Amino acid sequence: MTDTVFLNGDFLPADQACISVLDRGFMFGDGVYEVIPVYGGRLFRLEHHLDRLDHSLAGIRLENPLPHSRWQDVLEELIKRNGGGDQSLYLQVTRGPARRDHAFPPVVNPTVFAMSSPLGAPAPELRQGISAVTLEDIRWKLCNIKAIALLPNILLRQQALDQGSAEAIMTRDGEVTEGAAANVFLVRNGTIVTPPKSNLLLPGITRDLVVELCARHGLPCKERPIDEAELLDADELWVTSSTREVVPVTRLDGAPVGNGHPGPVWERMVELYQAYKEAFRRGEVE
Ligand code: PDD
Repeated sequence: MTDTVFLNGDFLPADQACISVLDRGFMFGDGVYEVIPVYGGRLFRLEHHLDRLDHSLAGIRLENPLPHSRWQDVLEELIKRNGGGDQSLYLQVTRGPARRDHAFPPVVNPTVFAMSSPLGAPAPELRQGISAVTLEDIRWKLCNIKAIALLPNILLRQQALDQGSAEAIMTRDGEVTEGAAANVFLVRNGTIVTPPKSNLLLPGITRDLVVELCARHGLPCKERPIDEAELLDADELWVTSSTREVVPVTRLDGAPVGNGHPGPVWERMVELYQAYKEAFRRGEVE
């Protein structure tokens, strides 16, 4: 069965959804996106994702084509049409088709697209820990915008894969920013640390939830800059994202992180994260 997608007001089979070759998303990467996990047919942290979408759109000076209530209706309908359950929902808004010119077109007809794919529990091998490499952050300085233009992230991720690692951890001017497609946390002497939000990293929704869970359950957590050198004597290192949740990094640049195994603070956080997800499935939390 072909998945159903949403394109500019219509629900239709993925293989019948077409956009113009002149779409500025295709021509320039002129658009933004969100990835939202769906558990038990419910959109996880939807308002957080829609607020971030608003910020991304404001960052590229494009008006949100839909109010939040309409986004919710559209996305819920899409989930239903694709069978409910656990899904990974992707939405994208571009500045739409226009004669090719770098300047904004005088009249903008944004392209609004959403699709979903099945979402399994994070692969069991992720729980064993992944390896990562540190690479220089070669991106622009508006990384807080969730832009569809992801070439640097793609190149860095591939460079990591080519070196036998699963993720790139990026550094800029000696400080850790984030992963190629995830935020970064380290644990040192029982304290959990993650870089503060800024224009140099994406404000991850998973990151925020981890920080929130720390506060709620009394785990010491600091949002402060992380010097690249601190990675060397971290007891634990994690990366977080909506689709992979909280993943332990057990090897960095070929050397073990801490004792080379997922650590006890990670174990505790995964427990809290899973409990939160289960409460969400039961409709007890948003
Ligand atoms: N990426 N930083 C970057 C550069 C990312 O691409 C992502 C997520 C994150 C984590 O954000 P969140 O917790 O909101 O998923 C941080 C998504 C999943 C992707 O591009 O597929």
